[in-house]
Amino acid sequence: MIGIIGAMEEEVNQLKSAMEEVSVETKASMEFCRGRLSGKDIVVVRSGIGKVNAGICTQVLADFYSVNAVINTGIAGSLNAQINIGDIVLSTDVLQHDVDAAAFGYPAGQIPRMDSLSFQADRRLADCAEESCRRVNPDIKTFKGRVLSGDQFVADKEKKEWLIKTFGGLCTEMEGAAIGQASYLNGIPFLIVRAISDKADDSASMDYPAFEAKAISHTVALVKDMVGRL
Ligand code: ADE
Repeated sequence: MIGIIGAMEEEVNQLKSAMEEVSVETKASMEFCRGRLSGKDIVVVRSGIGKVNAGICTQVLADFYSVNAVINTGIAGSLNAQINIGDIVLSTDVLQHDVDAAAFGYPAGQIPRMDSLSFQADRRLADCAEESCRRVNPDIKTFKGRVLSGDQFVADKEKKEWLIKTFGGLCTEMEGAAIGQASYLNGIPFLIVRAISDKADDSASMDYPAFEAKAISHTVALVKDMVGRL
């Protein structure tokens, strides 16, 4: 069983409408849609926005659906001048940029008493997603690297510069590292797939809804193809 999480309805409804043999269960106020896509058993869920929602959602997938992979699909703000609106980022690792236990000597992002700063995404899932992107979005650039998460929509130049200087991530969003941490604790391979909707600075434009819709269409096409090849 493959679990697919999107934070917002717009990020999952196209996947849901492509599914067959659908049954729906509500847990933790979230609707888990189980069914088949591209010949595979999947469960698609809208977690809601932010790290707590995403962590709870992942735990439900582990406990009630025994998923053996978790894919998080959605949009993100770019942290790299080479990565433009509509491009895709696949996670190598994820971390929570808003964790701060510096008072105890920990580096920014480090959760006290956990082994490492970031959680490693699954390489096989990332390679599969990269190949799917080549197949379905041949004109879209794909990047692999670190994804940053925090309970903040980053739309500020100074904050963006700090994130880049401190963590060196490719994009920032609000759920991926919580999904990564919950997957790690349950021993489940995971991957974050994000299409860029904005530049995570003050350049957010009037066109944001259009960029968002375009970005979502890229990840949906990719995930549909990828599920069939897992
Ligand atoms: N999701 C999309 N763009 C984002 C941003 N700039 N910050 C956080 N989450 C996002």
